[in-house]
Amino acid sequence: MYSGGIAPSSGEPSIHVNGKALEIPRDCNPETSLNDFLRDVLNLKGTKVMCREGGCGCCVVTATYKHPATEEVVSVPVNSCLCPVYSAVGWHVTTIEGIGGSGKPYHPIQERLAEHYGTQCGFCSPGFVMSMYSQLQENPKPTMQQVEHFFDGNICRCTGYRSILDGMKSFACDSNNGGCVDIEEMNKSLCAEGIAKPPTSGVIPIARGWKGQRFYNPGSLDQLLKLLKRYKDDEYQLVCGNTSAGVFKEDVLVNCYINVRNVPELHNIRLSKSGLEIGATVTLRELIDTFKEAAEKVPRLAHLDRISDHYQQVANQAVRANASWAGNLMMKHRHQDFPSDVFITLEAAKTVIKVADEQGTQDHVLTDFLRLDMRGKVIVSAKLPAISTDQHFYRSFKITPRQLNAHAYVNGAFQFAVDKRQNYRVTERPNILIGGISDKFNHAIKTENFLLNKSLLDEEVVQSALKVLESEVVPVEEATASSPEHRRQLAVNLLYKTILDIGSDAVEGAARSGGPVLTRPLQRGEQDFVEELQPAPLGQSVRKLESKAQTSGEATYVNDYPAHANELFLAYVLAPEAAIKVIGFDTEEAEKVPGYHSMLSLKDLEGKYTNNTTMPIFPPEMQTDEIFPSKLVGFAGQPVSVVLAETQWAADRAASLVDVKFDAGDEEPIVHITEALAKKSIHFKDAQRASKEDADATLAKQPVRVEGEVTVGEQIHFFIESLTASVRRTEEGFLVQAPHQWIEGVTVMLSKVLRRPRNQIRAISPRIGGGFGGKMFMVDHVIAVCAIACDITHRPCRMYLRLDTFALSGQKRPTIVAKYKAGADTDGFLRSVHWDSAVEAGYACNFITLIGREMDDSLDQAYHADTFKRDLTYMKSNKPQATAVRAPGSAPAAMLNLLMMDHMAHELRVDPIEFKRKNLYRAGQVDQHGMERADNNLGRMWDDLYKEADIEKRRSAIEKFNKENHYKKRGLDMSAISYHISYARFGPSEVDMTVHIDGSISIVHSGSEMGQGLTTKVAQAAVAQLAEFGATLDMVKTKPTDSMLLPQMDGTGGSATSELNAMAAKVAAEQIRERLLPIKENKPDAGWNELVMTAIMSGVLLKAFGTYVSQNRENKHARYSTLGVGAAEVEVDILTGEYVVLRSDIMMDIGKSLNPGVDIGQIEGAYVFGMGYYLTERTVYDSDTGRNLADGTWNYKPPQAADVPRDFRVHLLKKPGDTDSVFSTKAIGEPPLGLAATCVTAIKRAIEAFRKQQGKPDVNLTFELPLTPARVLQLCEVGAKDRQFKMFK
Ligand SMILES: Cc1cc2nc3c(=O)[nH]c(=O)nc-3n(C[C@H](O)[C@H](O)[C@H](O)COP(=O)(O)OP(=O)(O)OC[C@H]3O[C@@H](n4cnc5c(N)ncnc54)[C@H](O)[C@@H]3O)c2cc1C
Ligand code: FES
Ligand code: FES
Repeated sequence: MYSGGIAPSSGEPSIHVNGKALEIPRDCNPETSLNDFLRDVLNLKGTKVMCREGGCGCCVVTATYKHPATEEVVSVPVNSCLCPVYSAVGWHVTTIEGIGGSGKPYHPIQERLAEHYGTQCGFCSPGFVMSMYSQLQENPKPTMQQVEHFFDGNICRCTGYRSILDGMKSFACDSNNGGCVDIEEMNKSLCAEGIAKPPTSGVIPIARGWKGQRFYNPGSLDQLLKLLKRYKDDEYQLVCGNTSAGVFKEDVLVNCYINVRNVPELHNIRLSKSGLEIGATVTLRELIDTFKEAAEKVPRLAHLDRISDHYQQVANQAVRANASWAGNLMMKHRHQDFPSDVFITLEAAKTVIKVADEQGTQDHVLTDFLRLDMRGKVIVSAKLPAISTDQHFYRSFKITPRQLNAHAYVNGAFQFAVDKRQNYRVTERPNILIGGISDKFNHAIKTENFLLNKSLLDEEVVQSALKVLESEVVPVEEATASSPEHRRQLAVNLLYKTILDIGSDAVEGAARSGGPVLTRPLQRGEQDFVEELQPAPLGQSVRKLESKAQTSGEATYVNDYPAHANELFLAYVLAPEAAIKVIGFDTEEAEKVPGYHSMLSLKDLEGKYTNNTTMPIFPPEMQTDEIFPSKLVGFAGQPVSVVLAETQWAADRAASLVDVKFDAGDEEPIVHITEALAKKSIHFKDAQRASKEDADATLAKQPVRVEGEVTVGEQIHFFIESLTASVRRTEEGFLVQAPHQWIEGVTVMLSKVLRRPRNQIRAISPRIGGGFGGKMFMVDHVIAVCAIACDITHRPCRMYLRLDTFALSGQKRPTIVAKYKAGADTDGFLRSVHWDSAVEAGYACNFITLIGREMDDSLDQAYHADTFKRDLTYMKSNKPQATAVRAPGSAPAAMLNLLMMDHMAHELRVDPIEFKRKNLYRAGQVDQHGMERADNNLGRMWDDLYKEADIEKRRSAIEKFNKENHYKKRGLDMSAISYHISYARFGPSEVDMTVHIDGSISIVHSGSEMGQGLTTKVAQAAVAQLAEFGATLDMVKTKPTDSMLLPQMDGTGGSATSELNAMAAKVAAEQIRERLLPIKENKPDAGWNELVMTAIMSGVLLKAFGTYVSQNRENKHARYSTLGVGAAEVEVDILTGEYVVLRSDIMMDIGKSLNPGVDIGQIEGAYVFGMGYYLTERTVYDSDTGRNLADGTWNYKPPQAADVPRDFRVHLLKKPGDTDSVFSTKAIGEPPLGLAATCVTAIKRAIEAFRKQQGKPDVNLTFELPLTPARVLQLCEVGAKDRQFKMFK
C-alpha cells in the first residue's frame, strides 16, 4: 500500500500515516501538500483532490497529534490539499484506507453511507466519510443538528445530500435510525497510544526546496523571533493552518516558511474576570468552544457567545479546525478589502492584540494594527476585555450568497451599551463594524457618533441614524462582489435589524421578525414508491454494486491509477486575455522549476497533427474545436500551449510561470450576452419554428397579452473529479484512459488528431467522477494534448486539471436571453406563445446548436398553447464555446416557461397554481416536439401532489405566517415539467457478458458509469434473466468500458443510456439463458454453480454479446416524455434577501423504475443541481480581459447540504401505465432538474407578499437568474418607509 513510503531514519522529518511512521523524502519541497504526499508518494489514492482551496472537502483526512500547549491528544479534520506536508511532521494522519475497506472490515461510516444510497459517482464519498470520522473523534455523541453542520465544507455534485445526511445522521444520539456507536470500537484499527508532541527543529530548516526555500519548525517564541530577525527583509511566510492559500493565491515566490503551530507560547488561553486572552495559533474551532465557555463562566463576557455562533459560519469545519484567528487578521492586514469575520467581530468586542518582534512586545487596537508594518513581527495573542453588562448588546451578522462556507457580501458586528430604563438610550459610543464595503471602511464612525446618547426606540432617531449610515457607507465597485447599492442597503438593514433585535422587548408585534436571522430546520426526507417492474432483481430498490468501494476509497478513477514508469505530467498555459494574437512564449522562469521537461505549442503540431478535436460526425461548419488557436485567441483562459514536467505539481507551477507574448489587437472582448446583443454579434439565426395555425393572428385576438424578457445565466459543471486523461503507447498503438461519456468517440477523435487508423487507438473509462455532459466532448482536448505529447516524447503523459484552470478554460452552460409574447383568453387558457431567444454560444458555434434547438423545442414544457412561434439566435462572444450541462435544453426552458406562465397568471389576476393546472397538456394534444401526448398523467400527478403535499392547508398557514411576520415572508408555488426523451443515438448499446466456470459473472457495458447507477441497472437486467437458475447480483462484477471490446458503441447522455444498456444486457443474458435451459432440463435440481460448470464442461459457450438499437412499433426510434410535478415552499428574510427552501415535494412519472432507490437519488440530485443553477451559481467576467473571475470555490457557489430543501419528499407515480420505452421505464437523470425552478417562483411569492403588505406597486417582478440573495433584496426594495417599526405596533 505504501509503495513510496520509507521508514524514518533518525532526524529526518517523518509523519505517521495509518499507523506507520514514514519519512518525508527529500524531493518533497516546502510547497508539497499533504495531499500530494499521500497520493503521489504513498500512493494512497483514496483521498481525492479537486479544488485545492479548502472549498470542496474531497481531500479531507484526520490528523491526530498532541496539542503543543494542552498536551492533550486531539483529532481534527484537515484539508490535505492546503496543509503543507512539513506542517504535518509528527502528526498521525488517518486516511480513508486506514479506517476500513474490503477484507478489513468496512468502517460503520463507510457501511452506512453505502446503505443509505449516499453515493452516486462516489468521488466525494471518501471526503464525506473522513469528515464524519474526524468529527466523531471529537464528538462521539453528536445530535442530528450537529451532524448536519459537520458537512459545511463538503460538496457533492450528484446526490442532493439528503441520502448522505440520512446515512450520517444515523450516528446521532437523537436519531432513531441506527444511533450512536462505540467510538473506541469504531476506531480499533488505530492506536492513539504513543502519540508524542510534534517535534521541532529550532532555527535549523527541516526542508529545502527547489529554489533553496527553507521550511523551519521552531519550538519556542524565542526561536521564532530569531528566525524573523534573520528573514525580515526576505520573502518569508509564517505558516499556521496555511488555509489562507485557499483564498489568496499569492504569486510571490516565498524563500522561507516558518511554522508557528508548534510554538507553545502562541497557544495560551487565559480566562480572568477582566477578559479572555487567546494565543495567536488558537484555531477558530477552538475559539468556538472557548468563547462559549468564557461566556458561561464570566458574565461580562456573555457577548462571546454571539461571536462563537458567528464563527460557526466562518469557512467550514476542516478549515476552522486548522485556521488561526491571527492568520485571518493577517489576511485582512494584507488585503484590507477582505471581508474578514474575525476582524469585525473582534474589533466590535474592543480587542487588543499583542505583537512581538526582536525588540519586544507591543499592544495594538485592531484599527492601528491594520496600519502597522508587520515585517519581522508576529502576532502573539489577543485580549478580549470583559465589557458585557445587562446593558450591553452584541450582535453580528454575515450575509452570504450561499448559506454556509461562503464569504460575506456584507458582514456586520455591533456593540451597544444602552439604558433600557431610559427608552434604550445609548450610553457609550457604540461600535458599528461593517465589512465588505471597501479597503478603507470598517467603522461607521459618523453613525457611532450620531447614536451616542440617543434613544434606540425613538423612530426619528433610528431613521436619522440609518440615513447617516447610508451616507457614510460607500461601497466600491468590485466585479466579484454584489453591487455597491446592494451592499449599502444591506449595511443599513443590518443596523436596523440590530436595533429591532436589541429592542425586541419594546418593539411590538410583527416587526420583531426583522431581528433574528433565518433559522433552518433539520433536514429530512420522505421517499414514496412501489416496485413496479418484474422479474426481480429488475425493478427492485437495490444498493449500487460499487457503493462500498466508493465509500472506502477503493473505487478507482483515472487519476488514481499509479503513475506509469517515466510518465510526464501536463498543465495548460492559458491565454491571459481574449481576442489577442499569441506571438511567442518566454519559458525562462518555467524552466527553472525542477522537473520541467518541455513546452508544446501550435508550431509543434503543424504538419504532423490535426489541430482540431471536433468529432468528424459533425458537419464542416461545426469543426471549430482547435487544440491551440491558429488565429485570434477566442477567450481569456483558452489553452495556448502545454507544459510537460515530471510531476503534476511541477507542470502546474511551471505553466503558471510561462510568459505569453501577444499582440493585443484593437478588439474589445465581448463578455456578456447583452453586449453581444447590443453589438449584433451573431453566429447565425435558426429557421423559425411555428405552429401550423397563424400564431401572430391568434395572439392579436387574445384579450389578455403579456410581453417580457428573461435572462438565465451560465453554469459550470463543477464535477468533483476534474477533467483528466492518461495516454501511453503500447505495441498496438495508443492506450487512453479517461473519464469519458463516449469512449468510442475518443478513438474517432484521436484517430483524426493523430492521423492514425482507428485500430491503433484503444480507450478505456473505468468510471466517471461526475459527468453531467461535460465529459462528452470537453475532455477530448485534454486527451488530444496528452496523446500528442505522448507521441512526441515517447513517454506516457497525463494531465489533471486544477479547478481554476478548468473554470477558466472549460465550456459551460450558455447564458440565454429570451423574449416572450403570450396571449390568453378570458377563461385563462393559453392561446399563443412567441419566443425570441438568444443563446450565448461563445467564440465559436459547435455542439451548442443541438442544445439550443432542444431548449427551443422544450419551451412549452408541460403546458399547451394553441399556437406558437419561436426564433432562435446564436450569439458570438469572447467566451469558451457553450456546451451541454445536465438537462441542457430543458433546464433553461423550464425556467423561461415558468416565468412566462407566472407573468400571464399575474396579468389574468388568477392564482398561478390554478392557471398552470388548467393549461397542462391533455391526452391527444400534440406538443411542440411534435409528439402526441399519449397519456394524461400530468393532470393526475398535479392533483395527487396537490393533495399529498397538503397545498391548500399550507397556503392558509403561509398567509397567517405572513400576517404575523413583517420582515419574514413565506411563499409556495407548484409547477410541472415534461422532458422529451428520444432514442436516436450515436450507435448501438452493447453489453458483453461472461459467466465464468465458478459461476461469477463479468459484464462490460457500453455506458459510462458516472453515478447514475447504470452499472447496477445493467446487472439487474442481466441477472433477472438468470435468476430462475440461481444467479444473484453479488455474482456480478462489471469492468471498465473499453473501445476494443465494444466498438461502435453509443455515447452516454440524454438520460436514457441506463435503460438502453439494460436492454442490451437483457439481450445478452437471454442468449445465455437459452443455452442453459437444456442443461437445466437434464439437471432440474442443479444449483447455479453446478449448472454453469456442467454447461462449460460440455462445451456450451457462456459468453454473449447483446446489442440494442431502439425501434418502436412504427420502426422508429422511441420517443416519450418523463413527467414531473413539484411544489416548493420558501421563507425569505426581507431585510437580508436570504432564503431557505423549507419544503419541496416532487412527483415523477418515470414509468416502471428499473431501481427506485437509485432513481430517487437521481431525482434529488437533479433537483439540487437545478437549485444551484437557478439560485446560487453565478459566473462573472472581467470586462477588460474577458477572464472568468468566478474561477474557484471562493466565488462560485454550488449548493451544499445546508441549502437543500429542509423537508424533501419524493413520490414516484404509482401505476404509471405502459409507454413506448424499453421495459416501460423512463429516463430520470436530468428531467427533475427543471422542477427546481419552482423555488424561484416560490421566492417570488414571498417577495410579493412583502410588497403587497407595504403597498408597493403590484407589478410582475422581473429579474436575472440565478436569483441570488442579492437579487432578492433588490426586488424587496426595502426603503426608509419600510424601516418604521412603530407603524406595526
Ligand atoms: C474555504 C475557506 C473559506 C473561508 N471563509 C471565510 C469566511 O467566511 N470569513 C472569513 O473571515 N475568513 C474565511 N476564510 C479565511 C480563513 O479564516 C483564514 O484562511 C484563516 O483564518 C487563516 O488562518 P491560518 O492559520 O490558516 O493562516 P495561514 O494561512 O497559515 O497564514 C495566513 C497569513 O497570516 C500570517 N500569519 C499567520 N500567523 C501569524 C501570526 N501569528 N503572526 C503574524 N502573521 C501570521 C502568515 O504569514 C500568512 O500571511 C476562509 C478560508 C477558506 C480556505
Ligand atoms: S478542499 Fe481540498 S481539494 Fe477541495
Ligand atoms: S457522489 Fe458526490 S460528487 Fe458524485
